[in-house]
Amino acid sequence: MPGSDDLHGLTVSFTAMEDGTKADYELLDRFERQHAAGTADRVLAALDRLTGSMGGYRISRLEHSLQTATRARLDGADVDWVVAALVHDIGDELAPYNHAAIAAETLRPYVRAEVTWTIEQHGLFQNWYYAHHLGGDRNGRDRFADHPWYGVCADFCARWDQPSFDPEFPIHALDSFADEVHAVFGRPAWDAAVLAAGPAALVP
Ligand SMILES: [Fe+2]
Ligand SMILES: [Fe+2]
Repeated sequence: MPGSDDLHGLTVSFTAMEDGTKADYELLDRFERQHAAGTADRVLAALDRLTGSMGGYRISRLEHSLQTATRARLDGADVDWVVAALVHDIGDELAPYNHAAIAAETLRPYVRAEVTWTIEQHGLFQNWYYAHHLGGDRNGRDRFADHPWYGVCADFCARWDQPSFDPEFPIHALDSFADEVHAVFGRPAWDAAVLAAGPAALVP
């Protein structure tokens, strides 16, 4: 059980990686597994820090994230989609110009392929709602017009992401998503059975 491994005070022998021994790297592997076991809690903590309203919006980024996930849950979406909706903007704090990539890479080892792809592309697809107002190309998503997951990403934005800036919407609390976050990030990483693509739909 990785999380219960007592590693307190242990360190490797080396100061440069090239000098590390098999025992050193086996020790580090135990540390990595223990660290990975805490991913769900760190994701929840990172979401809890998305409290600053990005100037001008009527709700905070955390409230937007909760609203997006609440809509997914109320639509009957499965746990992959609900957690993806919850974390889809988790990269906003550190990567404001490519935030979708942060969320996609956070999810990629743990959810179905079409879910990761949707989160990866959601920034581009969201452009459809506003880019033309700023002299940009709202049709950038058209480059994926023939992609099998074009429709599901467009639906993610239309149904869950773009409407979720409403201060009157009754959001579910972050705590209410904790079990789902633990279920997803507690999965073995890169499990082919988990990553296999499902139906190209938000709700089958
Ligand atoms: Fe976003
Ligand atoms: Fe969003």
